[in-house]
Amino acid sequence: MRIYVTQDYNAMSRKAADILTAQVVLKPDAVLGLATGSTPVGTYKELVARYQDGDLDFAQIQSVNLDEYVGLAPYHDQSYRYFMQTNFFDFINIHAENTHVPNGQATDLRAECQRYNEVIRQAGPVDLQLLGMGRNGHIGFNEPGDCFQLETHVVDLAPSTIEANARFFASPDEVPRQALTMGIKTIMSARRILLAVSGEDKAQAVHDAFTGPVTPQVPASILQLHPDVILVGDEAAMHLLVQET
Ligand code: F6R
Repeated sequence: MRIYVTQDYNAMSRKAADILTAQVVLKPDAVLGLATGSTPVGTYKELVARYQDGDLDFAQIQSVNLDEYVGLAPYHDQSYRYFMQTNFFDFINIHAENTHVPNGQATDLRAECQRYNEVIRQAGPVDLQLLGMGRNGHIGFNEPGDCFQLETHVVDLAPSTIEANARFFASPDEVPRQALTMGIKTIMSARRILLAVSGEDKAQAVHDAFTGPVTPQVPASILQLHPDVILVGDEAAMHLLVQET
């Protein structure tokens, strides 16, 4: 595993963008696995700036996103499709048909999971999977206790995740209780994984994921078993890990 510790969030975002940039330059038709949440916002901003400077071309890139809330329409301002459009896709030359996000409004959620697995299989393998991590160690929406062998599936969100995400909704009651997520098996099939972390509230999870046992209780701990992981984090998120190593 390669580890980069940066001074702050902005430096973390630039470093993560460097790694994604290298992927796009070296393989213009790469498949990128993408994440939402507050962590990658600066990374996408950086990539958009590089695209606008003429340094990047996404015309042949395909993307598959990790997850989507159940029940939210693509144009709902908290849906992950909306997030991707307004933080990234609307500002670069990626083709709409090459961008994939699970459909949280599907009437048959199981069938949607199968369809999404097929989309990933057709496009894949994912060359570079960008991940953030929850305070409880979740990756995608694979919550503590979910089994490692799953592909895309429906999850009940953990109370701590609902609470953490309530900041984006008018009230905690509006936070969806379920999501569709790539499973750990899908995530682990990526050729390379880039985990980005920022902030003191992630420090314990980073420590547990990379110094503790590999266990479904800390979903990100499975990354210890992946052959090509890059961990990029700011000092606040990384200090417990750095102390230990
Ligand atoms: C988002 C996702 C989640 C987030 C995680 C961290 O697509 O899959 O696992 O990466 O909840 O969220 P932030 O970055 O908001 O702290």
